[in-house]
Amino acid sequence: MIAKIKQLLEEVEALKASSAEELEALRIKYLSKKGAINELMTDFRNVAPELKKEVGMKLNELKTKAQDKINALKEQFVNNDNGNDDLDLTRTAYPVKLGTRHPITLVRNEAIDIFNRLGFSIAEGPEIEDDWHVFSALNFAEDHPARDMQDTFFIEAHPDIVLRTHTSSVQVRVMEKMQPPIRIICPGRVYRNEAISYRAHCFFHQIEALYIDRDVSFTDLKQVLLLFAKEMFGSETKIRLRPSYFPFTEPSAEMDISCNICGGKGCPFCKYTGWVEILGCGMVDPNVLEASGIDSKVYTGYALGMGVERITNLKYQVKDLRLFSENDIRFLKEFEAAH
Ligand code: DAH
Repeated sequence: MIAKIKQLLEEVEALKASSAEELEALRIKYLSKKGAINELMTDFRNVAPELKKEVGMKLNELKTKAQDKINALKEQFVNNDNGNDDLDLTRTAYPVKLGTRHPITLVRNEAIDIFNRLGFSIAEGPEIEDDWHVFSALNFAEDHPARDMQDTFFIEAHPDIVLRTHTSSVQVRVMEKMQPPIRIICPGRVYRNEAISYRAHCFFHQIEALYIDRDVSFTDLKQVLLLFAKEMFGSETKIRLRPSYFPFTEPSAEMDISCNICGGKGCPFCKYTGWVEILGCGMVDPNVLEASGIDSKVYTGYALGMGVERITNLKYQVKDLRLFSENDIRFLKEFEAAH
């Protein structure tokens, strides 16, 4: 028995392996249940009692040495290998495919850039709003139809809390916090309780602009509108203003631009009128200024608001609004060139 242990000890000390498979074969040969060392352990039963102590010690020593050796080989083997077998250094590097910006983001950024150049800075506000900021402070009468359940998402348990139906609410938040001069644009998502179809959705995006200072006039508004239209749709673009009504502006107007698809000649897109509507605007109603703590005898201002989907539709002729929120990769990829 002692001679056998000695022989195995010598064998174990001389072990070498050049691959994981070889090492595993050695482990099985010496250390597994049916391995050489376990076999000796079984034979240990038959060793004469007076020799048991000495043989037992030698046997334990053999087992520890074998385990240490296999572990050492494994470590050396892992270090040498380093997993680099999978690394093919001759393979050509692929360029990483870049994603594309969403068309709504592209148009929003373009509008922000135009207004930034005119000195407007960005203001943001919450999408979950209260009645005051969305309606009351903006001069909506108690019974105004826009408050109707059909347009506005209310929270049943808290009728005062709504999903904002327009970004005009951000005007109010800014006016409450600062005194003029105020020159801001407010891009953001808005919600309306509409049945989803190719031309309506329950959420969309708006950009609001507000300028309040001493002596701001309708002429200032018109200048900015014309500049915006030319920057956004090309220098040939013409604008026209039609009288309109919004509770928060007086006078109010809607702006059309010459149809950028037919150049104003008339086509199905502009219903053969040569004009397409793009935004609402007007002089901020004195009631709105006062509601937010701004002295309407000292200050005047203009505001305008536009739908980003509408502008995107005009620029890129997206016929179905739903495409904007479906995230179909094929649709989004069409805007690769627009970056
Ligand atoms: N808030 C209006 C809407 O959602 C858009 C709008 C119209 C904003 C006129 C304005 C404005 O600031 O002056 O339909």
